[in-house]
Amino acid sequence: MSYQKPENLIFVPLSWTLPQAEYGGYTSCSGRGRGLTDQNLVEGTSLVLTDRHVCLRSKSTRMSAIDDKKPWWQEKTFEFSGHTLKMAMFKESSLGVSAYVWEPGVELCQYFHNEKVNFAGKKILELGSGTGIVGILAVLLGGDVTLTDRPRVLKQIEYNVAANIPSHSRHRAKVGTLVWGDDQFNYSTDFEVILGSDIVYSPIHFPALVKTLLHFCSVNTVIYLSSNLNARMGAENFHKEVLPKLFNCELVHSNKGNCIYKVTKECTDNAD
Ligand SMILES: C[S@@+](CC[C@H](N)C(=O)[O-])C[C@H]1O[C@@H](n2cnc3c(N)ncnc32)[C@H](O)[C@@H]1O
Repeated sequence: MSYQKPENLIFVPLSWTLPQAEYGGYTSCSGRGRGLTDQNLVEGTSLVLTDRHVCLRSKSTRMSAIDDKKPWWQEKTFEFSGHTLKMAMFKESSLGVSAYVWEPGVELCQYFHNEKVNFAGKKILELGSGTGIVGILAVLLGGDVTLTDRPRVLKQIEYNVAANIPSHSRHRAKVGTLVWGDDQFNYSTDFEVILGSDIVYSPIHFPALVKTLLHFCSVNTVIYLSSNLNARMGAENFHKEVLPKLFNCELVHSNKGNCIYKVTKECTDNAD
């Protein structure tokens, strides 16, 4: 007999680094480990089973086999620069941190809104797009944007591109795999703007990220990095110690730990 997941049983990855606030309104929450108790579910209530992604994986693999035809996602709506963005987040455990719209992404969009940024005619690359919120706004602001991430995230980005970018602008949005440190050589180096929101979050990825930034940064490139220096391990050191040794880094905006840096190539030429 095959297992049928009740409608009101939901699996979500939840750890201290993830936005617990999203799960407000539930009467109780706990790490479930191996536990799975859906027997007592009462009609009209939801049981949300949460754990770290790694623990959730086996459960959700089984779930996706059961729930193949039912995409499992949440949606959040944002408004920037006169555009309404409806971002779908595919809550499959295999997407991990990619299935959230993170604060630094929202902060960068708000910054573009406040600064009335116009990307018309600009060739733009986004690294670690996640849901794609920043890259999608950049397209709506006129840019010719390539949104990139690890292969498993591309379906979510493509979904959001299709849902948010009108067909007459769709040709300005490309989506592709770019794993830092490995795939940068598959892309041209003539991007004028590089975007990265909340991509400085895991020290294990820093060397590959630096390699990728160095590859794409020429004298004509501006990199916008938006990071939360309070919430992400190593982010402060990365922005204040590591990057300034290699690039010009200008803090252009800061709000509650979310810092936006404008990063450009360090000019080594001696003019005289
Ligand atoms: C915390 S999420 C941020 C997502 C989105 N930019 C935002 O602000 O909401 C970090 C993203 O970087 C991507 N990422 C992490 N390591 C990567 C790597 N080595 N190569 C490419 N992308 C990576 C993840 O897949 C994820 O989508």
